[in-house]
Amino acid sequence: MVDFYDELAYETNPFPETHPGNLATLGRLFGIPTAAPQQCRVLELGSATGGNLIPMAWHLPHSEFVGVELSAAQVAIGQRIVAPLPLHNIRLEVGDILELDPAALGQFDYIIAHGVYSWVPPVVREKILAVTRECLTPHGLAYISYNLLPGWRMRGSLRDLLLHATRDVTGAAAKYHAAIAALERLQHALVGAEADSQRYVQKEITYLLGSHPSYLLHEYLAGENNAFLFSEFLDDVQRHELQYVCETDLHTLFDTTLSGAAQAALGDIEDPSQHEQWMDFVRMRAFRKSVLCRADVTLERAVDVDVFTEFFYSADLRLKGKANLSNTKPVAFLTPDNTELTVTHPLSKAALLYLQEVHPYTPDFTELYTHAAERVREAGGKQFANARNELVSEWFSLYSYRAVYGHLHPCLLKPEWSERPEASVLARLQAAEGWQSVASIRHQALSLDDFSSELLQALDGTRTVSELIQLAQTSGKGSEKEIAANVKHLLNVFARHGLLI
Ligand SMILES: C[S@@+](CC[C@H](N)C(=O)[O-])C[C@H]1O[C@@H](n2cnc3c(N)ncnc32)[C@H](O)[C@@H]1O
Repeated sequence: MVDFYDELAYETNPFPETHPGNLATLGRLFGIPTAAPQQCRVLELGSATGGNLIPMAWHLPHSEFVGVELSAAQVAIGQRIVAPLPLHNIRLEVGDILELDPAALGQFDYIIAHGVYSWVPPVVREKILAVTRECLTPHGLAYISYNLLPGWRMRGSLRDLLLHATRDVTGAAAKYHAAIAALERLQHALVGAEADSQRYVQKEITYLLGSHPSYLLHEYLAGENNAFLFSEFLDDVQRHELQYVCETDLHTLFDTTLSGAAQAALGDIEDPSQHEQWMDFVRMRAFRKSVLCRADVTLERAVDVDVFTEFFYSADLRLKGKANLSNTKPVAFLTPDNTELTVTHPLSKAALLYLQEVHPYTPDFTELYTHAAERVREAGGKQFANARNELVSEWFSLYSYRAVYGHLHPCLLKPEWSERPEASVLARLQAAEGWQSVASIRHQALSLDDFSSELLQALDGTRTVSELIQLAQTSGKGSEKEIAANVKHLLNVFARHGLLI
């Protein structure tokens, strides 16, 4: 079977979980003196077009980044972005993981393999772990994501169908069209179906029909797609003298996120790895994003709260409705993709409101607490204002769900734009190259449509806001007033995402 990376580049986005800033804080919680993201070395295996690595290199100019990727066509796309930029801290190289010489690569504080481990044959998986062990600095961290059993078996049923339906078709585009036709046929056939398994397939089909072609091709039609039990992964990791630290989705480590019945049923499993394995069985988990370190590192298994309260914080959330800061009535905040998060304590509500106002600026925990307490007092919630420990506890829960982000170093940017707004050269260049998303300062993918892409490209610091609005009138849809409002809205969005300088 073939893969299609040269024919259809993988849509590589920034993955916030893989960012050294995120890995650094996770490691600190478990007692590892991780390297400062501002001054570190990062290796990405299977870096595709560099969509993950290039923005990291841009925002961390004193750190060094190396990407290794088999597909020359994908590397060329990334190099086209890097070449005109004053970026001297990144190398995107064509190479085969199998051929890597760890001694020549040197040591790295962070090693990333996102979307690679399950999609390569066993010999390459072995090499990924060997390179990880040999190239990690003593307190370095590695991030490896992979498809997981038992959950992936359910998705695998659609892979079986698509491999079958496209077995005689050659070429990426033709395979994609045959796959879509097969999905649509099954979708029509399942109208009105009531069995649980059929409902599951209906949902998956809807998701796949809305996904980017590269996802369908590379995930469902790839030559290799292997899933493992967590315990199998751990055996392999240990054989390579590495150890498991945690998941980037930290909340999944805690059985308090399971039902009471599940907690009771798993309650007598003492071995932590077995317990985590059983939680996968309960959740029917299909994917993991695991963080590893060298086996000789001493880990603090209980999360250190004092370390947690030394971080700086950010959150990209919007309040839904109104927040009363004098009672514990639940209040919902919305993530950028409109997922609802509920908080109850007045201090947490006030702290999130503060982060909403100042994003992307990052106060430290003390500033956050002091500000929240004052706000709660002013709102008539005096009896809640001193409950720092309760804020710590709800805040940790929000952090573990990745609703708030912790940072080792502050970001002092305020969400403002100047008289003649100017976007970073990287963002303008990515937009000009037709990339469908750019990375925010928090390393999140910010999707661009034609209108926002054109506006971003025009933000070279020479045009006033009125001139930008005039320019947008020539291509934008809607009334003059709507276009002007849209330009201002987008400038706010760009500023909040740290794209303006
Ligand atoms: C599913 S894509 C993931 C790309 C990217 N890391 C992401 O998550 O968006 C897997 C990538 O690994 C690359 N790859 C596969 N085998 C490789 C090997 N032996 N050496 C280097 N890269 C490899 C593929 O070319 C492809 O770009």
